[in-house]
Amino acid sequence: MCGIVGYVGDKQAQGVVIEGLRRLEYRGYDSAGIALVDTADGDGRIASDKRAGKLANLEKAIGEAPLPSSTTGIGHTRWATHGAPNDENAHPHLGRVSRVAVVHNGIIENFALLRTELERAGHEMLSETDTEIAAHLLELEVQAGADLTTAMQNVCRRLEGAFTLVAVDAEDPSRVVAARRNSPLVVGVGEGENFIGSDVAAFIEHTREAMELGQDQVVTITRDRVEVTGFDGSPAEGQRYHVDWDLSAAEKDGYDWFMRKEIFEQPRAVADAMLGRHDGSGKLQLDEVRLSEDELRTVDKIIIVGCGTANYAGLVAKYAIEHWTRIPCEVELAHEFRYRDPILTRDTLVVAMSQSGETADTLMAIRHARAQGSRVLAICNTNGSTIPRESDAVIYTHAGPEIGVASTKGFLTQLIACYLLGLYLAQVRGTKFGDEISQVLDELSRMPEHVQEVLDQAEDVYALAAQHAQTRSVLFLGRHAGFPIALEGALKLKELAYIHAEGFAAGELKHGPIALIEDGLPVFCIVPPRGRDELHQKMVSAIQEIRARGARTIVLAEEGDESITPYADELIRLPRVPTLLQPVVSVVPLQLFACELATQMGHDVDQPRNLAKSVTVE
Ligand code: F6R
Repeated sequence: MCGIVGYVGDKQAQGVVIEGLRRLEYRGYDSAGIALVDTADGDGRIASDKRAGKLANLEKAIGEAPLPSSTTGIGHTRWATHGAPNDENAHPHLGRVSRVAVVHNGIIENFALLRTELERAGHEMLSETDTEIAAHLLELEVQAGADLTTAMQNVCRRLEGAFTLVAVDAEDPSRVVAARRNSPLVVGVGEGENFIGSDVAAFIEHTREAMELGQDQVVTITRDRVEVTGFDGSPAEGQRYHVDWDLSAAEKDGYDWFMRKEIFEQPRAVADAMLGRHDGSGKLQLDEVRLSEDELRTVDKIIIVGCGTANYAGLVAKYAIEHWTRIPCEVELAHEFRYRDPILTRDTLVVAMSQSGETADTLMAIRHARAQGSRVLAICNTNGSTIPRESDAVIYTHAGPEIGVASTKGFLTQLIACYLLGLYLAQVRGTKFGDEISQVLDELSRMPEHVQEVLDQAEDVYALAAQHAQTRSVLFLGRHAGFPIALEGALKLKELAYIHAEGFAAGELKHGPIALIEDGLPVFCIVPPRGRDELHQKMVSAIQEIRARGARTIVLAEEGDESITPYADELIRLPRVPTLLQPVVSVVPLQLFACELATQMGHDVDQPRNLAKSVTVE
């Protein structure tokens, strides 16, 4: 939530900052702003502009009233927390004499107290934000003689909550200073230039060398130096890493939306998620699971925590993990988890599912679990993000950057990681024979082809979406591992097409929701493979029941399943795969449908209203 950028180097900062904001806009798009340190007339001053709405509004404004040239700057793209998304509340915020400019991601929880203190001392605030007090406090520090780094350390010690702050001082154009607590921040390490970003997309076009920071750290970048300290000023080390994807991954590559591109990247993403994780003999190697085999053998309960789509990946995982390992597995919304005082012991394995690795609700859940002595394993797509860093172990999903706000390849690769984890636990604990594990691995290794087979039907799904451009309500039915996919299909439609959509377990229908069925109501029905006869038959009965009441059935059923044809108004064929793996293919038409329907309705698919990628506030 909120994208932040900082730059010092020999290029024009305006171009670097605006380009960085463009790549971070998916993190928030309520407003955008930039501040540059202008040294043209000898005395430093801050030149800034900020506009409500998308980045394009800011670009238009600085096109009409250009900012001075400068090689030091910061920028921000906002997802509003404190204060309406208007020009005044847009970042950067300036101190009382406009010497310091600040951008911020997160929430400063004690801002009201600090604001009162400042106002009593005669400071006038121009916005409703919590951020503005940080600008005033920093400015007071530098006016009293501190350098910006020391000022940042001093101010951060007074702040409570979660925040990333990035600041510039008009009288010291050589540096940009940033700080983080519970909120994302990475440094891009260049040659004769350095960068700050909420994530590496901010600077990937300039450097693939990055540095992650720890909790409660301040970083100072100049052209040639990157220096890290704690909030108390003690020297600290950031952790350097090489980013293993390049600029092309952060571009749309000819697609209209990042989301559509990411849907079509799924065969490769699924293959990458499995790469190097099993040897030819069918044995799994999950070296990055830093928990010993002995530790894994003592696990007596698994709790998967996550939010939204990540939570649905957990719901699918429960079916596979319990079946393969016989370990009880619960799935919990991360924001509900710690408040219900869950039973956690040393032998509980908590799995934190998060594409971004920054979701505050999930982060707080794992902190709670670790405080109770449980071990935490993260399933995450973002290298160096907070959740894996605070976990005992991590399985990276290797989906590559996911920029569309709605998760797609992130979800599919979470499923793959869960399957691998389940099989690995089964291997370690001996609950499945080696040849059984090897058989599932074989099936998994064919998944990229199967996902491609579904993608090859995209035009049919688009045609279906075109027929539904006026639809105001859609239901989704599934059973067993297909039930979470019904939930996911509905979520995609809600967040992208802004229409009423609900997912149900098909067996639940007759306990109430069937009352919703009326003439012409579109209902997606995910039919389990025929290998599970009892499930399959019950699903067919549910489809008959809703069709008899006027529903328009859009049936997803495996190749060769003719039993369903008489009850399908529309039929989408799925490749033949085992029941537990079917979610990997059955979700794909639902992603395509939501993406296309939202496009037809004229919505911004990559930046749906009110949303942001990476929900870094609780
Ligand atoms: C929906 C979606 C969200 C995320 C959720 C968790 O398309 O993307 O529901 O899945 O906010 O995000 P991560 O996985 O980053 O923790």
